Formats: sequence, structure tokens, C-alpha cells
Amino acid sequence: MENAVNAQLKPLTHAVKTRNTKRIDLILIGARGQVGSALRRQLAAVQTKLKQQSALDLRLLASYDRRGFAFELSGLNPVDVESQLLPRANGDAERLFSQRGNHRELPAIVIDCTASDEIADLYPQLLSSGIGIVTANKRANSRSQDFYQLLQDIAHDQHVPYRYETTVGAAIPILGPLQDLVTRGEKIESLQGVLSGSLSYILDRVHQGVAFSDAVLKARELGYTEPDPFDDLLAKDLVRKLVVLAREAGFQLEPEQINLDTIAKAPKDENYNLQTFLQQQDPYWKARVHAAKERGQKWVVLAEVNHLGARVTLTVVPEHSAFAQLAPGQNLVRIQTNHQQHLPLTLSGAGAGPEVTAAGVLSDVIAAAKSL
Ligand SMILES: NC(=O)c1ccc[n+]([C@@H]2O[C@H](COP(=O)([O-])OP(=O)(O)OC[C@H]3O[C@@H](n4cnc5c(N)ncnc54)[C@H](OP(=O)(O)O)[C@@H]3O)[C@@H](O)[C@H]2O)c1
Repeated sequence: MENAVNAQLKPLTHAVKTRNTKRIDLILIGARGQVGSALRRQLAAVQTKLKQQSALDLRLLASYDRRGFAFELSGLNPVDVESQLLPRANGDAERLFSQRGNHRELPAIVIDCTASDEIADLYPQLLSSGIGIVTANKRANSRSQDFYQLLQDIAHDQHVPYRYETTVGAAIPILGPLQDLVTRGEKIESLQGVLSGSLSYILDRVHQGVAFSDAVLKARELGYTEPDPFDDLLAKDLVRKLVVLAREAGFQLEPEQINLDTIAKAPKDENYNLQTFLQQQDPYWKARVHAAKERGQKWVVLAEVNHLGARVTLTVVPEHSAFAQLAPGQNLVRIQTNHQQHLPLTLSGAGAGPEVTAAGVLSDVIAAAKSL
């Protein structure tokens, strides 16, 4: 009897051992950015294990930014990309994409670690030519509802992965669980959350007695803010997150439909000095925080969507409430559905930071590679 079982198992063991390793070429845009650099390190650390345990051969075929371009058919060493970057030549990326588009039998994934509209413009063409996309860049999905739908449709029709989990809540799995709820027919009634790791960090520091300007500059130094901190301070980045989140939950929403509060004024003079400009707002924030503390309250920025609409609100909440208790940089989102009304699904974790974001991007890359 035992021999018969062993005999049955043998071909299986053999099959597992000789399982073809799947080569997937990766093209990383944003080679030397904070998230891009962290991703390269994390990819290097896991490449061998992925080959051995998951039969995935993830090769970094090319990596570039606005200044440099590196390419190696046998795969770049991810941690050594900087020394292999050559100055950009006209049309180098376009040539690479068109070459890959002509060879659909060679699976490839573009990883967008920029905050660039120019790169988001490429998505329809990339997906149409059979190239998968993993992105930390919110620009594409937060444009018009039509553009968002176009990308979903192309990815679906071409059977190519299009993944963007880190565009909301960095590495906290939010969009995936939301898609699962929608797929199983659960109706999302409302979403409410602290979704900006950078704003929650800044407000927390200000409540700890740090000057507003110092808190913003520190958040930027830690890589919590967008490359342009006014994307955070004027809630532009948060609006993009709310748009992506709402759309994944089945709400049709255009960015300009969101009611908006901001935590800072916009500079009027183009040649402003960031530190001086922020320092002008220090006394205002000091007074606001003092008044809130006297009432046992804390300032937070809440992003919300329900059937009445979508809004980003700068508001005070009781100091003991869950939204006020978040650690600096932490995000928390509550999802109310027709089945989960009294005890909403609550997801929380680190909502910003290059390492944690890169980890989320890597998860998306692995999932995308497996699906190709
Ligand atoms: N940092 C976080 O905690 C975090 C969290 C969640 C999501 N994200 C998202 O992740 C993305 C990257 O953030 P980051 O903090 O890593 O930004 P970053 O440090 O400023 O890096 C941006 C990178 O993109 C490159 N780039 C910009 N425009 C480009 C273009 N047109 N063509 C090629 N390369 C271009 C830049 O190259 P040059 O240096 O040559 O300009 C740089 O390498 C953003 O979309 C951000 O919203 C970040």
C-alpha cells in the first residue's frame, strides 16, 4: 500500500522539482527615488528565494529616472543600479517599451515609483501592449473617472496585471480587501479615515509642542511627504487617495467634487522660501492646538465618502478617540457595508515611509508576476 502511495507521489515530486522557472522582466521607473531605492534593496534580498521557492525569476531588465538609464538583458544587480546608469538618450524608454510590446511572449512589468503625470500618460499604451503595471503613483487612477475606467478595461481585456495597492495607505492592505468586498456583492456604504501619513505625522508633532514649520520639514526629511510638500499641505495628495479609494469601493467620483479643507495656505509668490513661508503659520497653529488641548481635543484630517458625497475635513476629535490615538504616520480606515454597519471593518498600520511603501510595491510585483 505504502509503495503504491509513494509511486503516486513520485511523479508529483518530480513535477514540482522540474517546474519551469518563470522569467519576468521588471522595468523600474524612479531608480534613485526613496521608494525606488528601497524597492531595489528589497528585491535584491528576495530574488534567490523567489526563484527557489516560487519558481519566479524576477530580473531587473531596466531602471531609469529623469537623468539616467540602465539596461542589462541578463538582469541588473538591483543594489548596483546607480553605478550602471548612463545619461538619458532621446527616446530610450520609448524604444524599450516598443521592443517589449513586439515580444508579448516575454512577460514584463513596469514599476512606477515616480509621482509623475508624464509616466501615468504611458499606462494605456503599456497595458495595451501586454506590459503589466505596478504603481505607487496615484496620478493615473485619480484623474477622471473615464480614464480610471479605461485603464481597468484595458488591463481586463489584455489579461495583464494592473496593481496599485500602495497608492492608498502604503503597505496596509486596503484596496485588495475592498475589491474582495465588492466582488462578493457587499455594498460599501461609507469609508472614513485618516489616510495621510504625512498630515497625521505633522499634526501629531504639532500637538507634541513642535512648531508647525519644523514638523513639516521633518516629515519631508523622513520621506513622509510627497516630493512637493504642498501636495500634502494643500491636501492634493489626500484628494487623490480618496478618489482612488472611493472608486475601488464603487463610488463614481471626480476629484473636483470633493469638499476640501487644507492645513496650510498656498504660497502666492512663486519664489517663496519654504521654511520662512511655513514659519509664518507657526503662531496660528500654536494657538489652534492650545485651544484644542484645553477642550481635550486633537486636530485630525478626516477623508470620507458616502452616498451624500466626499470630503476632506480638518477637524477636532476627542483625544481618546481612535483617530486621535494614532501614532505619527499611522493610517486608519473604517469601512461600513450593508453587512458590517455596527462594527465597521477597520484597517490600520503605517501609512507612509519609503521602506514600508517599497514592501507593498514588492508584494504587488510578486502577485502581478504570479498572474502573468
Ligand atoms: N514616500 C512614501 O512614503 C510614499 C508612500 C506611498 C506612496 N508613495 C508614492 O511613491 C512615489 C515615489 O515617491 P518617493 O518618495 O520615492 O519620491 P522621490 O524620492 O521624489 O522619487 C521620485 C523618483 O521618480 C523619478 N521621476 C520623476 N519624474 C520622472 C519622469 N518623468 N521620468 C522618469 N523618472 C521620473 C525621480 O527621478 P529624478 O530624481 O531624476 O527626478 C525620482 O527617482 C510617489 O508617487 C509617491 O506618492 C510614496
